[in-house]
Amino acid sequence: MKVTVIGGAGNVGATCAQILANKEVVEEIWLCDVAEGVAKGKGLDMYESMPIFNASTKIFGTKDYADTANSDIIVITAGIARKPGMSRDDLLKINSGIVSSCAEQAVKYSPNAFFVIVSNPLDVMTYVAIQKTKLPRNKVIGMAGILDTARYRTFLSMELGISVKDIHALVLGGHGDTMVPLPRYTTVNGIPVTDLIEKDKLDAICERTANGGGEIVKYLQTGSAWYAPGTAAAQIVEAIVKNQKRLLPCTVLLDGEYGYKNVCVGVPIIIGKNGVEKIVELKLDKDEKALFDKSAQHVEKTIKEAMELVG
Ligand code: NAI
Ligand code: 2OP
Repeated sequence: MKVTVIGGAGNVGATCAQILANKEVVEEIWLCDVAEGVAKGKGLDMYESMPIFNASTKIFGTKDYADTANSDIIVITAGIARKPGMSRDDLLKINSGIVSSCAEQAVKYSPNAFFVIVSNPLDVMTYVAIQKTKLPRNKVIGMAGILDTARYRTFLSMELGISVKDIHALVLGGHGDTMVPLPRYTTVNGIPVTDLIEKDKLDAICERTANGGGEIVKYLQTGSAWYAPGTAAAQIVEAIVKNQKRLLPCTVLLDGEYGYKNVCVGVPIIIGKNGVEKIVELKLDKDEKALFDKSAQHVEKTIKEAMELVG
């Protein structure tokens, strides 16, 4: 198995690669990046850490797509990241062009690959990648819901003083301020979280989750988060490679599900060796549906703007 991470010299891409390498999820990983020296340097450094991790993964760097040929999975993290005061949509113009060209080149050399998209604005970039690769929707998965849900679980764990392992939750919708944490579907090993945390505290945790990316940007000042995002992208790759049938919130192209067509947005899916094996349609109550609609409609509007740029 071969995985290529495009943008792999960057923070999220390199983190994703290192996790896949340490866990021996695949045999070979290529970091493909316009910053060729950084890709080669990080690739070699990572390769040299394998004896210490007792792992036999091989890692290489390149800027030449020919080296990425016949990858089983392509992860796209290429693009610019947020700086303080920027929203994810501010990244639209530059990243639409970058993701278009990366997706087109990658699919030429790896026509059978699955694509995992990470670049922001995530839902829109997933749509752009589907258009540019012309792949069926089961083969292109956007990573955001896993990250947003991980943040939500972390904040709940902090509040409750209970391990993150025992907190089960879902965050749906677009990856942005309009994302939709679902307290009604959140449990601590089956105990409804609404029985354990008062409403106003839970509301504050949902709000912190929606602003979770911005909170990190504010601390870092020079970029956005990468440990949790890179780990989340690796989880999707692992679920495909190991045919795990994981139920995870990811961004996919909807075709009537949740009342939407031709829009990419975060929903629960089952991931296995065929990529998206099933989209799970949850019953949303009136308030949850209204939040989901707001989020999906914001993504729809931004997709239109992106397609005018890269049509
Ligand atoms: P970074 O700046 O560390 O890395 C980006 C990499 O992309 C750089 O190495 C750069 O050289 C490379 N690159 C730029 N243009 C390229 C091209 N045409 N071809 C190949 N490589 C190219 O940024 P970081 O922190 O790794 O973030 C990457 C992207 O992921 C950003 O757009 C960021 O907003 C997004 N992101 C998305 C998350 C999500 O939940 N979906 C979470 C965190 C970040
Ligand atoms: C994040 O949520 C910026 O999308 C990135 O950390």
